[in-house]
Amino acid sequence: MRKVITYGTYDLLHYGHIRLLERAKALGDYLIVGVTADSFDKVRGKINVSQSLTQRIENVRKTGLADEIIVEEYEGQKIDDIKRLGVDVFTVGSDWRGYFDYLSEFCEVVYLDRTQGVSSTELRSDRASLRLGFIGCAKEMVKQSAEVGYVNGMTVSGVFDPYGGTSPELEVYRRMDGYDQLLESSDAVFVLSHSRDHFKHVKTALEAGKHVICESPVALSEAECDELFALADERGLVFAEALKTAYATAYHRMLLLVQSGRIGRVVSVQSTCTSLADLQNGGDALTEKWSSADAWLPTALLPILQILGHEARSCAMTRADFGSAPGYDAFGKVDFVYGSAAATAMFGKGVKAEGSLVVAGTEGYVFVPAPWWKTDYFEIRREDQTQNRRFFYQLDGEGIRNELASFARAIQTDHGYAFIERETTRAIAGLVGRFVSCGAEVLTIDPVS
Ligand code: CTP
Repeated sequence: MRKVITYGTYDLLHYGHIRLLERAKALGDYLIVGVTADSFDKVRGKINVSQSLTQRIENVRKTGLADEIIVEEYEGQKIDDIKRLGVDVFTVGSDWRGYFDYLSEFCEVVYLDRTQGVSSTELRSDRASLRLGFIGCAKEMVKQSAEVGYVNGMTVSGVFDPYGGTSPELEVYRRMDGYDQLLESSDAVFVLSHSRDHFKHVKTALEAGKHVICESPVALSEAECDELFALADERGLVFAEALKTAYATAYHRMLLLVQSGRIGRVVSVQSTCTSLADLQNGGDALTEKWSSADAWLPTALLPILQILGHEARSCAMTRADFGSAPGYDAFGKVDFVYGSAAATAMFGKGVKAEGSLVVAGTEGYVFVPAPWWKTDYFEIRREDQTQNRRFFYQLDGEGIRNELASFARAIQTDHGYAFIERETTRAIAGLVGRFVSCGAEVLTIDPVS
């Protein structure tokens, strides 16, 4: 018996797939089809496959062409499968020509002509092309808009900087003259303006019937947040908070392990985020008012709120302002006391510290090394070091890509997965609002010139 094997994602099964499977089957007597697992697709850069693994396996099964279906979960698995299953022929479409020649050491390799004019990517794009407009500071929009290219079915409709800024990288997009024009040309908007303007920009977009994703904090009080959520619900719109770390695979998996009790009962969370602003260059960073709370407080708060919740018994804030630039907080610290746990968020743009995250529990602790907010790995450490475990996950686009894909999915499917719970969004808005409006003890420092 001549065994043939082929692999693919088989998302939104189309006739290109069927023709490939028919011809693969004709190469032998027994056809094995490997369907890629969601996690493996992510590693390969396919972040927004529409159908689940179960649905995609079902697609292949229904063709009646596969004698056996397996799941492809890891890089290098093809060699294992070929040896394990006694495969004679490996085949795949000609878009992969040359790529799998290394398998000829183990079996015959055949590239079949790819069917022209159809692909899952095109089908995903055709289904709903979401026009995403950007409003905000030019510098901020560059990074986020570039990530849109990785998300199927999403395009940048245009950019608008209400503060008059520009950037050469943004010239590839349509530059809008005003927010109205941007809203008219978009199905959804990404709000990346200064945090003091978020509420206004989000509200205007929701009132215009547009879905919104807004950089954290989405507003500067819990009441403002409630108003925005109510407005979104009333209009049937998706309103999501953008905080890229929440969408990074390593962070998300760490959270799940902690919530599953892997380190026992959590007693402390210490999260530190800092970056040094370029204060030597004529104080640009200061005039932009992109201070430490704007840049870091939401991220530093995220693990504390997601692990310990929103019901802290007390919360003490300290901020250090530069005397030479009043109102620019260079450093901040927020200490929480919960019923049976404590937490500290430390952050700065004029002060540098080790940017790690430590979650201490009664049976061990999680250590996420600096810069924890864009890490691809973490460790669970225990008293008995032989029980320590390291976890590695690929980080694509610092989490922004997943954030955009998740936003698109929420709009398209009507039931998005909430990587950030509404309670967390509310708490972040309330705490940042309190911090910036003098809810903190203020110290004065100055950089040494
Ligand atoms: N295939 C083909 N003709 C097409 C599309 C796919 O022969 N028009 C083949 C691929 O070469 C591969 C198999 O079908 O051997 C499964 O491909 P898959 O990656 O699942 O489908 P694509 O449509 O190429 O998906 P995407 O657009 O996401 O890359």
